[in-house]
Amino acid sequence: MTLLKIARMGHPLLRQRAREITDPTAPEIRHLVNDMIETMADADGAGLAAPQVHIGLRLVIFKAPPDRAEEPENDGEEASGTIGLTILINPDYEPLSDEKTLGWEGCLSVPGLNGAVPRYTHIRYSGVDLDGNRIEREATGFHARVAQHEIDHLDGLLYPMRMTDLSLLTFSEELKHFMRPADEGETP
Ligand code: NI
Repeated sequence: MTLLKIARMGHPLLRQRAREITDPTAPEIRHLVNDMIETMADADGAGLAAPQVHIGLRLVIFKAPPDRAEEPENDGEEASGTIGLTILINPDYEPLSDEKTLGWEGCLSVPGLNGAVPRYTHIRYSGVDLDGNRIEREATGFHARVAQHEIDHLDGLLYPMRMTDLSLLTFSEELKHFMRPADEGETP
């Protein structure tokens, strides 16, 4: 496996729509996913999209572990707020309600910064895995947030482009010192 170089904001690939993957079961896709998993772990990220490693294909990986849970879940849906490592090829999402919530995000392609981004609180996403099997899930909390963040990468969108209040774009170090609302501070 190989650590991949991460593209930073300003690289044209991060602004483009990524291409569909025609054969999700191809060995080179599996190889790419393995390298992305290693790269994400090394960078301590919660998600990574192929364009972030200079590959313009519709492929994302992400996870939403319990320690990143965005909000207390007490409506019987606690399982949908967290998720283990997920590999999604040709993914899509749709909101299941109009409700959005503001939460802190970071991005490996926008190092050193965090921003408070409005995201849908409840979504359904779908895609296929490395065996070509269809995945369809409902997600809430940080799980919903990281999925929206990563799938946005495939359409050339970085989180600052989703922000509605740019006064909440901050250096991570200043956030640590001064801001601390909510309990988020993630690096999807
Ligand atoms: Ni990102």
